[in-house]
Amino acid sequence: MSRRPLVAGNWKLHGDKVMVRGLTDAILDALTPEGVTEVAVLPPYPYLGQVQALLADSEVGDRLRLGAQNVSVHGEGAFTGEVSAAMLKEFGCEYVLVGHSERRALFAETDQLVADKFVAAQRFGLQPILCLGETLEQREDAITEAVIGRQLEAVVAQAGVAAFENAVVAYEPVWAIGTGQTASPEQAQAVHAFIRRTIADMDAKIGDCLRILYGGSVKPDNAVELFNQEDIDGGLIGGAALKASDFISICQAL
Ligand code: 13P
Repeated sequence: MSRRPLVAGNWKLHGDKVMVRGLTDAILDALTPEGVTEVAVLPPYPYLGQVQALLADSEVGDRLRLGAQNVSVHGEGAFTGEVSAAMLKEFGCEYVLVGHSERRALFAETDQLVADKFVAAQRFGLQPILCLGETLEQREDAITEAVIGRQLEAVVAQAGVAAFENAVVAYEPVWAIGTGQTASPEQAQAVHAFIRRTIADMDAKIGDCLRILYGGSVKPDNAVELFNQEDIDGGLIGGAALKASDFISICQAL
C-alpha cells in the first residue's frame, strides 16, 4: 500500500489579487521538484484563473495542484450563479470540495446533493474531496460513527464504491473547524480507521488506497502528531492555509 500524502489549503471566502499572488508565489518558492507530498490550493472561484497563470509561469507549477471549493450538479443551462465541473477543469482544477460542513450547515446541502456533486465532479475528471464530520452534540451523543457512516453511504449509494478510486475523503469534525480545538490524534485516527474500514468492507483494495485527510484547526505545532497516525494521509487546512509560513510548515510536517 502506498498512499501519496496530500495537503490542501481551503482559502474559503478570503483573498484579493495581491494576497493570491503573494501566497501562491510563497508556496511555489518552497516547493522542490522532488518533494513527495502533493500540495493543493483551493481559492475562491474568481482567482482560479490567476493561480492557473502563476502555475503556468513557474518551473515547479506542476507540483502545486489547483482545486475549487464548490461545484454545480448541473453541466450547463439556466442555473444562474452556478459553476460547472467542466468550467473548473478548464481553469486547471484537479480537485473540488464536496460536502464541506459549512455548505451542509449554512447552505442546506443534503447528503443527496453532496452525492450528486461528487458524481458531477467525476464526470468531468475532477477528484472530489468528500468532507465528512459530526457536530459536537453528535459526538457527545456518541453517534459520530453513525453520522459519518450515513454521510459516506449516501455517496457510495449514488456513485458506487469504485468511484472512490478517484476521490479523496476528508474527516473534518465540525467542532474543530476554526475553533482552535483540534481532534486529538487518537480521536482523529479512530474515525479515519472507521472510514477506511467502511470502504474496505466493500472493496479491500480501494479502502487500502483511499487517501483520508484530517481537517479542523491543523497548525504547524499539531500537524506532526496528527500526520503520524496510520490512517491520516494528509490535511485539509483552513485558517493556517492563509499564512504562507504556516501552510509550508504543515506541508513539511507531512
Ligand atoms: P480550520 O483549519 O480553520 O479549522 O478549517 C478547516 C477547514 O474547514 C478546512 O476545510
